[in-house]
Amino acid sequence: MIIIGFESSCDETGVAAVCTESGLLSHALHSQIAMHREYGGVVPELASRDHIRRVAPLTREVLSRAGLGMDDLGAVAYTAGPGLAGALLVGASFASAFAWARGVPAIPIHHLEGHLLSPLLADPAPAFPFVALLVSGGHTQLMRVDGVGRYELLGETLDDAAGEAFDKSAKLMGLGYPGGPELSRLAERGDPRAQALPRPMLHSGDLDFSFSGLKTAVLTRMKAIESAGGGAPDPGAVADLAAATEAAIIDVLAAKSLAALRQTGLSRLVVAGGVGANRPLRRRLMDAMPALGGEVFFPPLELCTDNGAMIAWAAAQRVRTGLADLSVHEGSFAVHPRWDLRAVCAP
Ligand code: KG4
Ligand code: ZN
Repeated sequence: MIIIGFESSCDETGVAAVCTESGLLSHALHSQIAMHREYGGVVPELASRDHIRRVAPLTREVLSRAGLGMDDLGAVAYTAGPGLAGALLVGASFASAFAWARGVPAIPIHHLEGHLLSPLLADPAPAFPFVALLVSGGHTQLMRVDGVGRYELLGETLDDAAGEAFDKSAKLMGLGYPGGPELSRLAERGDPRAQALPRPMLHSGDLDFSFSGLKTAVLTRMKAIESAGGGAPDPGAVADLAAATEAAIIDVLAAKSLAALRQTGLSRLVVAGGVGANRPLRRRLMDAMPALGGEVFFPPLELCTDNGAMIAWAAAQRVRTGLADLSVHEGSFAVHPRWDLRAVCAP
């Protein structure tokens, strides 16, 4: 079956076509980063309006690139949550209208399930079961994944997500939006040992995270750097702080991920979500694997951040495993701005 999938939960409009048997056929993405940059973060109303402008042209692009006609589509998938309500509504209403018009099912997908299953698009793909480190702008979770729809939460952040820690720290350092990649780029020029930052909950004995204390420490250091420079911060000191911040976040993410492998006795670790694009994090986890006898898997770099492929692909996996409701619902759909992943787990 060929499925077209739509992602519009935040600031990326993503559309993709997948085949349940052969995988990804084509995908197209429009990032709103440039539009939101001047506001220093995502403006929800602007995000919704831009999704409306982009979704139809991207759909045409995906169909023509894959050489598909409307009649080839067996189902439509869309991100039903969690995310920004207005942004979700654009993708959900477009997808549902599309499905209704074609007389095919519309499959609602949980955004995090999309991220969780996206590493299966990589070659080689990890076999189940595995531990997943889900690190995005809104989520930091360690999950045990035994199969499609079989997810068990092992630990999560008690406050800020890892991506949020990157973004907020970057903002304090006067960097642009989104802060993660910008901070990481600046960190390459800094010395992580020049500033001692806390590693929150590193020794808490569980698999939970906390990043809000780190943000406060960065704020204090940044104020000190500013006052030492008489209002004009020394660029070298800011680069050192960026390197120290990145090192602190990576230390905690890596330590807890390895602890999750030890605790579950599993040998495969899968990293998903936007922060999974962070190269030093990738390197650290890859370097740690030989000693553990484990393996680490990442989605293709362009599929780490939000995209339509992961949504179409998650729907394909749910169809293959009999977890998708394939009845045709004429005209009805719902979005869930807050949505517990357990709601989409297999019974
Ligand atoms: O998964 P994603 O695209 O959107 C959400 O579902 O949140 O993740 C976006 C997050 C942002 O916080 C962004 O700063 C972070 O991923 N990010 C990075 C990198 N690339 C994206 N953080 C650190 N290093 C990167 N290279
Ligand atoms: Zn995401």
